[in-house]
Amino acid sequence: MTTAPDSVNTIPRERLPDLLRDMPKAELHIHIEGSLEPELIFALAQRNGVSIPYASVEALRAAYAFTDLQSFLDIYYAGASVLLKEEDFFDMAMAYFRRAAADHVVHAELFFDPQTHTDRGVSFETVIKGLTRASETAQRELGVSSLLIMCFLRHLSEEAAFATLEESLPWRHLFVGVGLDSGERGNPPDKFERVFERCRALGLHVVAHAGEEGPPDYIWDAIELLKVERIDHGVRCLEDPRLVLRLAAARMPLTVCPLSNVKLCVFKTLAEHNLATLMEAGLCVTINSDDPAYFGGYMNQNFVETFEALPQLSARHAYQLALNSFDASFASADDKHRWSKQLDAVFAAG
Ligand code: ADE
Ligand code: ZN
Repeated sequence: MTTAPDSVNTIPRERLPDLLRDMPKAELHIHIEGSLEPELIFALAQRNGVSIPYASVEALRAAYAFTDLQSFLDIYYAGASVLLKEEDFFDMAMAYFRRAAADHVVHAELFFDPQTHTDRGVSFETVIKGLTRASETAQRELGVSSLLIMCFLRHLSEEAAFATLEESLPWRHLFVGVGLDSGERGNPPDKFERVFERCRALGLHVVAHAGEEGPPDYIWDAIELLKVERIDHGVRCLEDPRLVLRLAAARMPLTVCPLSNVKLCVFKTLAEHNLATLMEAGLCVTINSDDPAYFGGYMNQNFVETFEALPQLSARHAYQLALNSFDASFASADDKHRWSKQLDAVFAAG
């Protein structure tokens, strides 16, 4: 794809916050259920007559002090319990798309967790129809393009994943890929080898969370057994130099989520985050928000805070991160080309 215009090298660091906010970008790692803000959780709880174990929006937000991935997932699944009707899924996704558009996100690939809903008696049809209608509305009214990726919950069995895949088939035309999320430790990729093989045979794109909390071996297995096209997180790859070489040679995208990593104690502070090191190692890194309602920010917050915390990051890195996000997406070649031209125009203007 395009290389950075020469002017990128002369852009001073003071210009970075504005450039980071204004540049077009794609988000490739967003759990749509993780975009449910406490205000919307309360509004939907009231609308649907669902009781939640928090007295107020403030009390709920105060509970967002996580010690690890599981401590977050417990609250995240409780939050999702207010989603019952197609309209709820539509409202949740539209709220996300409005935030994305404000951050100059031109394309988003949304993860959704059907098992979180079907296990509560909400049909797959309800979930996918609400999300699809929001996706179409976002394209029409906000100019934001999007694709849907169905995730299997890895703390559940492969049999349950197969049942979910079966249930999804009438709606196969409405999502482009599958992913693997939820508690990573003790739920290695090999548990899902057969269902991923079936998904690939169906022509679905495949991605998986690996190396967020889990060891580098899980990244190896996601590549070799699940044959993924992107690794979600992957930050622990630096513990295995041979793996880093493999990821670089394959130009395997990593969808990194800096604010998430700090909130879930993968890194103590943003200043200790390894994003700049991953880029220096030649890896195809992207920046994403993961679960923005829970982790303190949407896309631009992730970009601006990360660049503030890591002084080695320059305008060239900003350009590369945006370009990587288009390149690593499942969008058409035409769309990727158009967005990269928009990116060039923003950087050429300095
Ligand atoms: N589900 C929602 N957010 C997640 C994350 N960061 N890791 C694994 N599963 C998730
Ligand atoms: Zn995630």
